[in-house]
Amino acid sequence: MAAISSLSLFFKLKFSLILISCVIGVTSAQLSSKFYDKSCPKALTTIRKEVERAVRNESRMGASLLRLHFHDCFVQGCDASVLLDDTANFTGEKNSFPNANSLRGFEVIDNIKSKLEGMCKGVVSCADILAVAARDAVVALGGQKWEVQVGRRDSTTASLDEANSDLPAPFLDLSGLITAFAKKNFTTQELVTLSGGHTIGLVRCRFFRARIYNESNIDPTFAQQMQALCPFEGGDDNLSPFDSTTPFKFDNAFYKNLVQLKGVVHSDQQLFTNNGSGPTNDQVNRYSRNMGNFKKDFADAMFKMSMLTPLTGSNGQIRQNCRLVNPPSTTVS
Ligand code: HEM
Ligand SMILES: *[C@@H]1O[C@H](CO)[C@@H](O)[C@H](O)[C@H]1NC(C)=O
Ligand SMILES: *[C@@H]1O[C@H](CO)[C@@H](O)[C@H](O)[C@H]1NC(C)=O
Ligand SMILES: *[C@@H]1O[C@H](CO)[C@@H](O)[C@H](O)[C@H]1NC(C)=O
Ligand SMILES: *[C@@H]1O[C@H](CO)[C@@H](O)[C@H](O)[C@H]1NC(C)=O
Ligand SMILES: *[C@@H]1O[C@H](CO)[C@@H](O)[C@H](O)[C@H]1NC(C)=O
Repeated sequence: MAAISSLSLFFKLKFSLILISCVIGVTSAQLSSKFYDKSCPKALTTIRKEVERAVRNESRMGASLLRLHFHDCFVQGCDASVLLDDTANFTGEKNSFPNANSLRGFEVIDNIKSKLEGMCKGVVSCADILAVAARDAVVALGGQKWEVQVGRRDSTTASLDEANSDLPAPFLDLSGLITAFAKKNFTTQELVTLSGGHTIGLVRCRFFRARIYNESNIDPTFAQQMQALCPFEGGDDNLSPFDSTTPFKFDNAFYKNLVQLKGVVHSDQQLFTNNGSGPTNDQVNRYSRNMGNFKKDFADAMFKMSMLTPLTGSNGQIRQNCRLVNPPSTTVS
């Protein structure tokens, strides 16, 4: 009898130990909005102030920081793999087709990182900086805030191949866009919502030339105006806003443009097609009429993007320099 009850006590104890370690395990592997409250209480404020300063200095920087987070999260998850430089013995993602000569904002991230290293050495990950900076950039330009969970860790790897295969190209049709976003567990609705990121920022002529010279699903006057910016030959790197009406305001003008067949790149106009058969026309119409609706959905979808397969717990590391994997000798993390 005593043997049995001590045996059952043993099992109860063991069971609660398992429960406790499960809870601890889950906790340490999850992101939280309070992750830096004790270890680096000024982290989030510091990031916000630096983002606000960078956007005040150059309004395009808000767009660039939003895009950096997107291009981070779609390749290996939100692990700051996008920030790693190519070196003699490391191949990063910066020279992939979607990123090369295109991504910007790396200096702003470096600057934030060095401020944070000065305050709390080896604590705040580069992946978290990207996630918080993207949110703060959108808010600085008029978007709706989302609560960023933190505690991501940084990768020691990058994938040039995945950057080339998983980042969507502006020449894709709707079905290709749906497939690319479904691969990251986003619905077609979320694709339409996230594409609204193109309500800010600039795009190079090489990515919309075929559309403005050869497509019929385009406002003819708009096509002519764009042709003045983007010649048939040459001028590949000439820049145009995605949304010429309010290029650096996070509003719903992107969708108003699509309804008027004034989308700049092929992929964006795929979300609203003029022959009445476009499966996403209704959503584009709705956003074009209801800005609050778009901003709310965008905040929710960005929150979801920011949670794509983060490294947590003892996975990955806290990079000392966002551009480089920590040297093997380091004991910082
Ligand atoms: C739906 C598929 C998407 C495609 C095909 C696409 C494609 C592109 C292209 C071609 C550029 C211009 C690159 C250059 O000229 O060098 C660009 C810029 C940009 N993209 Fe996207 N993108 C997509 C989705 C997104 C998403 C989901 C976001 C954010 C939520 C986003 C945010 C931006 C921003 C803000 C810029 C401007 C960056 C700047 O001015 O520095 N894009 N995108
Ligand atoms: C301000 O923006 C310009 C580009 O418009 C850039 O060259 C410069 O480095 C920026 N300065 C700071 C302090 O961010
Ligand atoms: C990469 O090569 C550099 C010299 O080119 C060396 O200093 C560094 O330790 C190497 N890193 C790794 C991870 O092998
Ligand atoms: C998508 O969801 C599946 C099933 O839950 C999961 O295994 C996969 O890791 C998710 N993919 C991403 C990129 O989050
Ligand atoms: C437009 O289409 C024609 C015929 O397919 C092609 O020869 C031309 O290169 C295209 N122009 C652009 C700018 O894509
Ligand atoms: C209507 O537009 C869709 C999307 O661009 C396209 O797939 C379809 O072929 C078009 N249908 C007609 C009849 O033009």
